[in-house]
Amino acid sequence: MRDAVHLSLAGVSLTLGGRPVIDRIDLAARRGETLVVLGPSGCGKTSLLRLIAGLLAPDAGRITVAGAAPVPGVATAMVFQSYRLLPWKTVRANVAFALPHLGERERSARVDRVLAQVGLGRFADAWPRELSGGMQQRVALARALAPEPELLLMDEPFAALDAQSRELMQAELLRLTGGGAGPTVVFVTHSVDEALVLADRVLLLSPRPARIVEELPVTFPRPRWQHDPREAPGFAELRRHLWDRLRAMVVSDPNSDFYRGGES
Ligand SMILES: Nc1ncnc2c1ncn2[C@@H]1O[C@H](COP(=O)(O)OP(=O)(O)OP(=O)(O)O)[C@@H](O)[C@H]1O
Ligand SMILES: [Mg+2]
Repeated sequence: MRDAVHLSLAGVSLTLGGRPVIDRIDLAARRGETLVVLGPSGCGKTSLLRLIAGLLAPDAGRITVAGAAPVPGVATAMVFQSYRLLPWKTVRANVAFALPHLGERERSARVDRVLAQVGLGRFADAWPRELSGGMQQRVALARALAPEPELLLMDEPFAALDAQSRELMQAELLRLTGGGAGPTVVFVTHSVDEALVLADRVLLLSPRPARIVEELPVTFPRPRWQHDPREAPGFAELRRHLWDRLRAMVVSDPNSDFYRGGES
């Protein structure tokens, strides 16, 4: 079962406001696999996640999750760059909000368990404003994991964190999702290092409209929260390779404002 295709996109295209945003994307993820989507700003990464979540419909092509068209619901969880916690609810109530389908007792036990997993058991009754950014993002992660989703979609979830919290959250995510029965993950980032730390496969996208220009298998040993891939042989080469490709795409993109190395 773990090797079965869980998520598949075939010839998926999307147009928004008359402009092509996604151009004939094909991909397949095995159950439990972590795909990391890396691409230039504005290329269509968030739109791709929204398609997979069933929040947008493609103009062409077909998307399936566990063999069926995607529908928003408890089987799919999404984590955003902004934590999107409800400021008028406590930490406990924010997480419980993701579990409307459970009875009172089961919901409460589940909330306690996931808050303990992310190390926030003592903050269950705190308000979001009383927490640091890193802690708020851990609540957002707890809320996403609480329904035990089969598919976890993450849109630059750690981009707003300081460098230390970000590395700790990467390790936390690896620990929480890497235990054999974990969800299939599609993780969007701008960070090459983050992509290489988390991914089983990196999908490199072109500038808008997004196409997959490269699929890079990442085979550093797991569990990676114990064996930091940044110290593994080969990390620097993969990092350089991805950076070179990204830089080349951004520089040759007529819509980019970045320095073009002396060309006019
Ligand atoms: N509702 C919309 N109507 C029209 N155009 C849109 C809409 N939503 C997004 N776009 C355009 O689609 C393109 C892709 O947007 P999207 O948010 O998917 O990119 P992204 O790769 O996530 O960007 P970023 O790296 O900044 O997060 C952008 O050019 C954006 O302006
Ligand atoms: Mg985005």
